[in-house]
Amino acid sequence: MKTRNLMMICVTSLLLAPLSLLAANEAKPFEPVKLQTLRGTDISGPEANSENFKNERDVAPIPRDFVQQPPLIPHTTKGYNITKNFNKCMDCHAWSRYKETGATKVSLTHFKSREGSEFSNISPRRYFCTQCHVPQTDAKPLVANKFQRADGLR
Ligand code: HEC
Ligand code: HEC
Repeated sequence: MKTRNLMMICVTSLLLAPLSLLAANEAKPFEPVKLQTLRGTDISGPEANSENFKNERDVAPIPRDFVQQPPLIPHTTKGYNITKNFNKCMDCHAWSRYKETGATKVSLTHFKSREGSEFSNISPRRYFCTQCHVPQTDAKPLVANKFQRADGLR
């Protein structure tokens, strides 16, 4: 019989627990949650400026950390738009332009389709350059880590 009594006490206190929580809530007035966009602005406010980052000055490229790494962009990309009809990056990086602009020509790998066939111009899957290439910045790591440059580049 003792166990049954114990169970009754347990069940009753479980049932009453939410009630005591409600009472505690009543003491504090309800505070509305402040909703924010991912960019930290009010959700009903205007769109935050997407170019809200520091454009680094043109400097020497930071060396790659592994050979397959898309090289970082060592110059500003402000105003370098990539649209359906025009790709500003190719204005300098195309094989037909690199000699006069002094830019590195796009890699040969950028002319391959996903299935491995070769194109005579930039492959659609490499068209949106900034999907892979980002402007470089000398930012310190946010989290301590033991990352080391790949063997082949040490
Ligand atoms: C006005 C000409 C110009 C435009 C436009 C331009 N670049 Fe460049 N880019 C250069 C030059 C010149 C270099 C070489 C700089 C150096 O090696 O010091 C370079 C270097 C680079 C590199 C480093 C290559 C390496 O060898 O490590 C990358 C990556 C790159 N650019 C990507 C881009 C992307 C992506 C865009 C478009 C958003 C772009 N560039 C637009 C002129 C340009
Ligand atoms: C899907 C990812 C991806 C996209 C999109 C892409 N790249 Fe690359 N890019 C790479 C990788 C990875 C490398 C390094 C390995 C290689 O050469 O393929 C590279 C290498 C380069 C290099 C260095 C070539 C060299 O000889 O050292 C340049 C310059 C470059 N890309 C420019 C561009 C430009 C300009 C565009 C847009 C027209 C572009 N990339 C689009 C991934 C990408």
